[in-house]
Order: sequence, then structure tokens, then C-alpha cells
Amino acid sequence: MAYNLLKGKKGIIFGALDANSIAWKTAERVHEEGGSIVLTNAPIAMRMGQIAELAKKTGSEIVPADATSEEDLRNLVERSMEILGGKLDFVLHSIGMSVNVRKGKHYTDENYDFTAKGWDVSALSFHKVMQSLYKADAMAEWGSIVALTYMASQRTFPDYNDMADNKAYLESVARSFGYFFGKEKKVRVNTISQSPTLTTAGQGVKGFDGFIHYAEKMSPLGNASADDCANYTVSLFSDLTRKVTMQNLFHDGGFSNTGVSQEVIDEFNK
Ligand SMILES: NC(=O)c1ccc[n+]([C@@H]2O[C@H](COP(=O)([O-])OP(=O)(O)OC[C@H]3O[C@@H](n4cnc5c(N)ncnc54)[C@H](O)[C@@H]3O)[C@@H](O)[C@H]2O)c1
Repeated sequence: MAYNLLKGKKGIIFGALDANSIAWKTAERVHEEGGSIVLTNAPIAMRMGQIAELAKKTGSEIVPADATSEEDLRNLVERSMEILGGKLDFVLHSIGMSVNVRKGKHYTDENYDFTAKGWDVSALSFHKVMQSLYKADAMAEWGSIVALTYMASQRTFPDYNDMADNKAYLESVARSFGYFFGKEKKVRVNTISQSPTLTTAGQGVKGFDGFIHYAEKMSPLGNASADDCANYTVSLFSDLTRKVTMQNLFHDGGFSNTGVSQEVIDEFNK
């Protein structure tokens, strides 16, 4: 169901790789709610991904940008304002990648070049995106910036590896930049701490199947899907959440506040 919540609003969506991506689902929902979008992804992912199909479906233009490159980001912000005809109302940072995870390096045996690369892509890129927007004065008043995170930033999930540290940094950047964006530009900045979700990035985590089923059994409402996340993001882009900022918002069916569920206890009483 569409409510026209984003009628007349415009913005940038990072990270739609394929139809499973949280960013892909969000772009579809934003379009349904009347928003106009510029889609972006790393040039290398654009060749692999099916982003052109999403652009067609949502009437969007694509501007490639590596989120670690300040030059690419400057160009992206400038081009997006030209394409969309003015300042931006929303930005979604939906980017994550750990080279240590990809290469099977254990947390106790990190390759620090891999760590630095993963941190740049997954965490510092959020600062770079916001700094590019801030310097170009690209955000409209009461605009909304959202990044995606996972609760391994606050509680240990051993196989999440160095992404846990990257997410802790990302959440801190949201608070720190959120202060300046709020004071100076009346723009809000939040992170959504999403349930484990079956996407390319999600499946990269070792033992992901066990992980997602455990979360499902622990969450009173069940895991939040990528579609659920898209809906929640739309609400954060809308004018209905104008005073929500500098928050890490759990979107996980209640997982984060559940000590143990009956289903999990039952597993141990068999
Ligand atoms: N899937 C999960 O279980 C889960 C749970 C909580 C949070 N998240 C977060 O959600 C976000 C989106 O991930 P997803 O699950 O939709 O997976 P995904 O693999 O579909 O999306 C990750 C995206 O990051 C992009 N990316 C990688 N390097 C980049 C770079 N240098 N510049 C620009 N883009 C780059 C990829 O091309 C891809 O589109 C990530 O931040 C992820 O950590 C995912």
C-alpha cells in the first residue's frame, strides 16, 4: 500500500546490487511513495549487478561512485542535484564489505590491509558521504540520512568478524555528524540496526543460516525482512519522523531486548 509519504522528495540511494539488496527494496518503496531517486554503486558492482533494471523500474538515473573516493562522491552529489533539480531530502547508505570475511581471515588473525580497506568501505565511507553532502550544502532542511548497521556493533557475534568494529564506528559517526547536521542544517542522521537478512553481504557471514534461524526464534515478531526494512526507511525519510536524530534504531522484531525465548529454551530441554 502506498501513502504518498515521499511525494516531491528526492535523494540518493547507495548499494542496490541485486533484487535481494536492502537498498533495492528501499528504492522500489521510495518510488512507490512518490520519491525521485539517483541510484549509485561502486563502478565494479555496476558491471555485475542489475542496477539498470532497477533504474528503469523506478525512473531513476544511475551515477557510479566508489563510496571511498571523495572525488567520486563530490561528483555524485553535484550530478544528483542537477538531475533531481535541487537539494536532497534523503540519502541511504547501504554499503558493507569486509575483506577479512571474504578471504576467510579469522578475527584473531586479521590482515590489517584488509581491515583498513573494509573499514574505509563500510564505515569511513559514511563520514565521506556526509562530508560531501555537508560541504556542498546539498541537503534540504528537514532532510534525512540513514545508514544500515547490525547489532554485532554492541554485542559479540563471533563470525561477524571485523564488521562488528566497522559498524561500531559507523554508528558513532551517525551521532557525531548528526549533531552538526542537526544544528547547522536541520537534517537528521540515524542508523537502522537490521535483523540478519538474506542478501549477498549477509550470506558472506560464516554460518549465516544458523545465525538467521536463531534470530528468528529469538525475536517475538520474527526477523525483519528487507521489505520490512524498506518500509521503516521510508518512514525515516518522511516528514513523520522529523525530530528523530542521532539514534541507532533497532529494527529486529524485538531480538535486541529478548534475553531468551521459549523456543530457544525448548531446544535445550529436548
Ligand atoms: N544482510 C544482513 O544480514 C544485514 C543485516 C544488518 C545490516 N546490514 C547492512 O545492510 C547494508 C546493505 O547490505 P545488504 O545486506 O543489502 O547487501 P548487499 O550486498 O546487497 O549490499 C552491499 C552493497 O555495498 C556496495 N559496496 C561495496 N563496496 C562499495 C564501495 N566501495 N562503494 C560503494 N558501494 C559499495 C555493494 O556493491 C553492494 O551493493 C550493509 O551496510 C550491511 O552491512 C545487512
